[in-house]
Amino acid sequence: MDKSLRKPVIAGNWKMNNTPEQTKALIEQMKPLVAGADCEVILCTPYIDLYAAMEAAEGSNIKIGAENCHWAEKGAFTGEVSAQMLKAAGVPYVIIGHSERRQYFGETDETVRDRVRAALNAGIKVILCVGEVLGERELGITDEIVRKQTKVALSGVSEAELANIIIAYEPVWAIGTGLTATPEQANEVCSVIRSLIAELYSKDASDHFVIQYGGSMNDGNAAELLAQYDVDGGLIGGASLVAEKFAKIVEAASK
Ligand code: 13P
Repeated sequence: MDKSLRKPVIAGNWKMNNTPEQTKALIEQMKPLVAGADCEVILCTPYIDLYAAMEAAEGSNIKIGAENCHWAEKGAFTGEVSAQMLKAAGVPYVIIGHSERRQYFGETDETVRDRVRAALNAGIKVILCVGEVLGERELGITDEIVRKQTKVALSGVSEAELANIIIAYEPVWAIGTGLTATPEQANEVCSVIRSLIAELYSKDASDHFVIQYGGSMNDGNAAELLAQYDVDGGLIGGASLVAEKFAKIVEAASK
């Protein structure tokens, strides 16, 4: 049991925020603040901002990601963007299966699995989101829900490919609500995911596998959440839109 086998990863999910111009300004502000980070730093932005973000982040320790990708290489899917297109644009990361995509855009465990496959095939690293809604937690079925989401999304993923996947445990009731899972609750579910990785792959794979917590993580609560054994980082929404707040979370992960 050695947490130091895993380098923490702090990722921002900007969701539907920031124009290209605002993107440049925010990344310029963030760069000096996170330059000394002893963790991976990723910012996931709307498609329209990706070029501005990569340009602004060039030469820094900030990596850029998209917030979704389609499962097909190309074709008649109006409004969608393929993993191949992201790869060609030079985007190294993509979030897949965010609960807002599942809730508002009809994504299922199966479409999430197919998008994961497409991203891996294109050579893009995946931040895969899983998490229960409040009703599921109240019914006591959080573990089953998270295990099922993870199992389906990873079906067909080899142990070698796991190195290109991070899982973000995001309880839906904690997203954008100001309600955070307690450090114990966050650790408990991250630990369920780690055990599942051991079960599906190997102990070695699970020891090295990065699992983030997401859901109202901010500069005030990050240190305590990140100190948990099975929490290796954070996927940050609201607080990633404010340079100082995001930088403080990066600092907390660097200790
Ligand atoms: P908040 O940090 O705004 O709760 O959002 C979390 C999230 O959904 C990150 O993907």
